[in-house]
Amino acid sequence: MLVAATSVVGAVGAGYVAVPFIASMNPSARARAAGAPVKADIGKLEPGAMLRVKWRGKPVWVVNRTEEMLAALPELEPQLADPNSAASAQPESCRNGVRSVKPRYLVAVGICTHLGCSPTYRPEVAPTDLGADWKGGFFCPCHGSRFDLAGRVYAGVPAPINLEIPKHTYISDTVILIGEDGGAV
Ligand code: FES
Repeated sequence: MLVAATSVVGAVGAGYVAVPFIASMNPSARARAAGAPVKADIGKLEPGAMLRVKWRGKPVWVVNRTEEMLAALPELEPQLADPNSAASAQPESCRNGVRSVKPRYLVAVGICTHLGCSPTYRPEVAPTDLGADWKGGFFCPCHGSRFDLAGRVYAGVPAPINLEIPKHTYISDTVILIGEDGGAV
């Protein structure tokens, strides 16, 4: 957890440095920079931990899923609204059962598909407040929507579709470029 927290602080710090730089650009350069891909360094992201970065003004999460987390995903499918992500947004490289380029790393936009709150990362299994069936995922505190660890929404909650998966590609084993398509190295 400590290592993940350090990574988060690093990402936020990079954001603070970038703002005055972007503000000094002309409008078209600023627009290009605001839409530019961002790097996420996952070299120190421990199993089960989550890293947050900002891309195009949106929170993007990277979760290092453990073997146990991945093994639980197929079991959840009967409880999900769109288990195959037919109605949900993801790049072609993530059209698979785990919704990612590399199974271990989930990359998702951290905005609830109901009314745009930011869900909370809840990786623990069967916590008292979420119930005995909870296998880890994301819980939206605004109106109670639930998502699994592939960002797939449960049936019967306000959010209609799965969390968005942004385009992303691996530029090395430990660095993901978010905002560009290309798959794995
Ligand atoms: S905004 Fe997430 S459940 Fe309503």
